[in-house]
Amino acid sequence: MIRSAPDALTARPTVARWWQKGLIYQIYPLSFMDSNGNGNGDLRGIINRLDYCRWLGVDALWLSPIYPSPMVDFGYDISDFTDIHPLFGSLSDFDALISEARRLNLKVLLDYVPNHSSNQHPWFLQSRSSRKNPYRDWYVWRDPAPGGGPPNNWLGAFGGSAWEWDKITAQYYLHSYLKEQPDLNWRNPDLQQAMLEVLRFWIDRGVSGFRVDSIAHLMKDTEFRDNPMNPDWNPASGPYFRYLPIHSRDHPDTMAVIRRMRQVIDEYKDCVIIGEAYLSLERTVAYYGAGVHLPFNFALITSPWTARDLHRIIRSYEALLGPDQWPNWVLGNHDRHRIATRVGRDQARVAAMLLLTLRGTPTLYYGDEIAMQDVPIPGELVKDPWEINVPSLGLGRDPERSPMQWDSTHHAGFSTATPWLPVASDFKRFNVAMETQEADSILNLYRRLIALRAENPALHRGPYGELLCDDHVVSYSRHSEGQRFLIVLNFTGEPRTFEDGGLHGRIILTTALDRTNEPITEKLRLGADEGVIIEIDHQTFKQP
Ligand code: NOJ
Repeated sequence: MIRSAPDALTARPTVARWWQKGLIYQIYPLSFMDSNGNGNGDLRGIINRLDYCRWLGVDALWLSPIYPSPMVDFGYDISDFTDIHPLFGSLSDFDALISEARRLNLKVLLDYVPNHSSNQHPWFLQSRSSRKNPYRDWYVWRDPAPGGGPPNNWLGAFGGSAWEWDKITAQYYLHSYLKEQPDLNWRNPDLQQAMLEVLRFWIDRGVSGFRVDSIAHLMKDTEFRDNPMNPDWNPASGPYFRYLPIHSRDHPDTMAVIRRMRQVIDEYKDCVIIGEAYLSLERTVAYYGAGVHLPFNFALITSPWTARDLHRIIRSYEALLGPDQWPNWVLGNHDRHRIATRVGRDQARVAAMLLLTLRGTPTLYYGDEIAMQDVPIPGELVKDPWEINVPSLGLGRDPERSPMQWDSTHHAGFSTATPWLPVASDFKRFNVAMETQEADSILNLYRRLIALRAENPALHRGPYGELLCDDHVVSYSRHSEGQRFLIVLNFTGEPRTFEDGGLHGRIILTTALDRTNEPITEKLRLGADEGVIIEIDHQTFKQP
């Protein structure tokens, strides 16, 4: 067993804010619940399922974009930042969602997409109409390179150059994603003001914060220098990584812009700002410095799923955090393959226990709580532009966006019409109605874990004690006010034994939802893919 010095992991401030104690549940609105029988999820559908969210024990719902959009990137191409796409409903449906959520003590967070708009946004239509138009500078326009062609070698994340030639005014515009998603120019003060107003608009309407999309892309190199070749490029990761995006992403000037967002957020009480960027842990934590409350920590998604790797990321993340920087952990989202596919359904239970017992705010992707898996999408049904542009590398994101599996009826109770993406073929076995009834389902495991975390300060705010690992098992303790839990997780499909001379306690919860109250002394047997939470006896409780 490797032992980590506890002092690096302890002595943390206590938790005061709801977003530190609470669990964030991500809803992908198109796929959550369809209320009007057109095959697409909508706001009324979400309202109809708020009781479920409450029952599960989540504290805040983060909705992926619900704004007017041509839907080329399924809502991340926004043509009006302050309205609702008719597919999802109206502003009055949104108001109803806020008030119903409030009644149930649920917060609502929105996706804020500041890096780009749709190419159908009126600002862009103006901007492209003439070089003299007042909106011209709200986007990033450049002349061709001296020898012709795009101004530099920057690539769009979903394939091809990041520059699109626009013959109306004979210049290129920048798009870090699709050509239908032109980048906004955050160096322009009017654009900044307009985008900051968007935050106020939604907070005034009752939201409790934002997940900020592509936060590291906002500012770019002022000289638009070429990105260098990536010496470690693996073509299987997709063409975007052929170059290291050092001039087009994570630019130092980004921090000042985020500080402006934070100032707006701070005009209000208790709003949270969450940042989305796939960066190293070192660079991720740098965004705390700009005022992001929770820069998403994607290490559980991007790191190999082994005891040693997970131990390493927990340690190094904790070592990077400053005293006022609150951690967070994410198991899945609408851009990455589902956890129950990545590690298998049995191991997904261990992942659940890990997510809910680590120090920091957990984010849970809809459907992971019932062990939904990726749904293979036949070629003719592919919707995601990434899969269309860069096919067959497994980059497409449709599989993890399949409709929520509510029950065993037609279309899994998601819709009365054919859903926009296919429902999983095993939905009759894995769905909310079924798993609610099964005492030992993963859904009931999630519910128990969420409740345990909420009820016990040791779990929602206590520091770590020792963090141990070998090739198969990770264990850590969490403590607060005389209470101490030991969490022991077997990351393999083989039974293992965990030994600790000082261990005396009783089992509170296992991933199989059995063995409750079993006394444990010195030695713990772990089944294959088993995780265990032990409450340590008071008498043997040692302050680390
Ligand atoms: C990150 C979002 O999560 C993803 O779905 C989207 O395609 C890109 N940003 C562009 O907005």
